[in-house]
Amino acid sequence: MENYVHNIPTKVYFGKGAISHLDEALKPFGKNVLLTYGGGSIKKTGLYDEVMKILNEGGYTVTELSGIDPNPRIESVAKGVALCKEHNIDVVLAVGGGSTIDCSKAICSGFYYEGDDLWHMVKHVKGYKKSLPLVDILTLSATGSDFDGGAVISNMKTNEKLGGSYTYPSVSILDPTYTFTVSKYQTAAGSADIMSHIMEGYFSRTPDSELADGIAETILKSVIRNLPIALKEPDNYSARANLMHAESVACSGIPEYGKKSTGWPCHAMEHELSAYYDITHGVGLAILTPRWMRFILKKDPTCEWRFVRFARNVWGLDGEDEHELALKGIDVLEQFFRGNGIPMTLGELGITDEHFRAMAEHADIGGRLSNAFVPLTADDVVQIYTDCL
Ligand code: NZQ
Ligand code: ZN
Repeated sequence: MENYVHNIPTKVYFGKGAISHLDEALKPFGKNVLLTYGGGSIKKTGLYDEVMKILNEGGYTVTELSGIDPNPRIESVAKGVALCKEHNIDVVLAVGGGSTIDCSKAICSGFYYEGDDLWHMVKHVKGYKKSLPLVDILTLSATGSDFDGGAVISNMKTNEKLGGSYTYPSVSILDPTYTFTVSKYQTAAGSADIMSHIMEGYFSRTPDSELADGIAETILKSVIRNLPIALKEPDNYSARANLMHAESVACSGIPEYGKKSTGWPCHAMEHELSAYYDITHGVGLAILTPRWMRFILKKDPTCEWRFVRFARNVWGLDGEDEHELALKGIDVLEQFFRGNGIPMTLGELGITDEHFRAMAEHADIGGRLSNAFVPLTADDVVQIYTDCL
């Protein structure tokens, strides 16, 4: 078992009605609030009105930044930083999915960034930065941005989507009822993202971090059980609550404590797809993961024991032939994604092999792929993308 550091400073209010804590969450930071949100789902669902009522009653002065895109853009970060400076903002309140929270994290750090080029900040961000305080209300179970310090920002002009460590939310309000309105497509994509956050760390060389592996397997089983229920019954509280609980812990680092780092190769490859084609993150991951699994199992059979464990402990599969069992676990994962409505080829998203070489070469930023669980070369990545067509 490897060493690890636990340091998650976010206070979480989880459950129905958790918004009752919003005023006490914001109050310590001041009265000037930047309210950030996406393309308008919070207005349709009534959450915007609920939030504004609390802010008005609490005597807050509210400045708004709306229109944050999925795969949030550097332009929104720049707009938000300018608003914070112009209105002497004390605290940012993000209401939405991972994109809104990520953009808000970059705004909070960008406020203190010395220099005008915020894309330079994104490209060079290393470790946590001095930041404005951030409070969020999560509306989609997927990224775990409510309980981690990372954010992923896109620059469509340079075809880059880059992750980095910015700041943790001070407070996250997680009410599963706010996810009742999430579409089937985003519910399935978000669940694939949750599962990927687990699988990226689960496929590791460390054999004896028992608690971490147990947490990982439990989260995977919970998503496998609850996603089909949430798709059939969007307002099933138990299913939505379990998905929300899972998303929060899955990307927090906890399921990887004590394990050797793995490079998170599917995320490195997916961010390239989103940077070129602006696709939904979880869909890209669902397409890549089974193909990546088959590729590495063939490239380095010494990792087979992990796949056997995955097949047995996560999917409940049985069998004498371990190689067959390993492959069966991957097939079942692919069928699960397809069965829950996720398009499972890049062709279905209109993606061709045109940029595969450039994407593969860019994906190894910081050596994430060359130092992965099974190291990958650019040629390997081109092959994996091709297998996804
Ligand atoms: O923009 P609005 O109108 O709010 O609509 C959104 C958006 O169209 C909609 N939506 C959100 N909540 C809803 C809702 N629709 C109806 N009812 C609700 N309650 O869903 C769409 C997708 O929203 P988005 O925020 O983009 O989704 P998600 O939470 O999956 O975030 C994806 C982004 O997070 C990054 C991804 O790369 C991507 O850019 N990630 C962030 C991570 C992190 N911070 O740790 C880790 C992840 O691996 C990931 O990379
Ligand atoms: Zn992800």
